[in-house]
Amino acid sequence: MEKLLVLHENKQYIDECADILNEEWKRSKSARLHSLEKSCDSFPTCLILLGNIDGVNTVVAHCRLSKVQGKPDSIFVESVVVRKDLRGKGYGKKIMLQTEQFVKRKGITTLYLSTHDKQDFYKHLGYTFCEPIVSFGVNTDHLPEGFLQKFLPDTTSENSRGKDPISLSTNQGPSVVSAPAAPPPPPPPPIGGFLKGQSKVDRWDPNAISWMKKDI
Ligand SMILES: CC(C)(COP(=O)(O)OP(=O)(O)OC[C@H]1O[C@@H](n2cnc3c(N)ncnc32)[C@H](O)[C@@H]1OP(=O)(O)O)[C@@H](O)C(=O)NCCC(=O)NCCS
Repeated sequence: MEKLLVLHENKQYIDECADILNEEWKRSKSARLHSLEKSCDSFPTCLILLGNIDGVNTVVAHCRLSKVQGKPDSIFVESVVVRKDLRGKGYGKKIMLQTEQFVKRKGITTLYLSTHDKQDFYKHLGYTFCEPIVSFGVNTDHLPEGFLQKFLPDTTSENSRGKDPISLSTNQGPSVVSAPAAPPPPPPPPIGGFLKGQSKVDRWDPNAISWMKKDI
């Protein structure tokens, strides 16, 4: 039976966790460890799902929780990852469901997340598309290389002169800000993830990020 653990209370698993994240989203080991070391009770909080694989306690999945600006009853879930060789065995679903129970005990009523290609997985777990939110401590390293650059203004062009280099807004939904290097509280990834011209958010643009939420 798998157990959900808080990473900063179980630091012996930090190294293993770093490897799982780095296998999916390449980063230097020291940068990854540094980021994981920031896990704390007051957020961001890293959670791990510990399984028993061939008789050995092993990290099978990870996710990270951050606060949502202006929504004290909500939490933002990111960096959801299952160890590569253990995918398709139900661990992704387990960590998401156990995370729901974990945050529910803390009085949280809504989970938010963003994804660029796992919409079906989250829909399957009861998430629906929503408007973008602003979370504290958003981590952009799960995005494909070069993804954010698509949304950054072209500072070399005539049009972009004089514009705030980090502010972005979409045609649909509220403005959001992208600046991976911005001072705290860091903004979320940019973008709406809704298809142009749609009044209802029930599909996604494969070239953008989708925002999803689940009331628990
Ligand atoms: C996405 C991920 C977390 C899913 O974890 P997993 O352990 O492979 O998924 P599970 O085995 O728990 O699947 C649970 C259910 O979701 C379904 N599912 C899994 N991945 C899916 C996908 N990409 N699209 C649609 N359904 C999916 C499964 O069929 C299963 O259905 P069931 O409950 O009817 O049996 C995992 O594939 C992963 O780590 N991917 C790489 C990192 C990543 O992209 N993370 C998401 C960042 S937003």
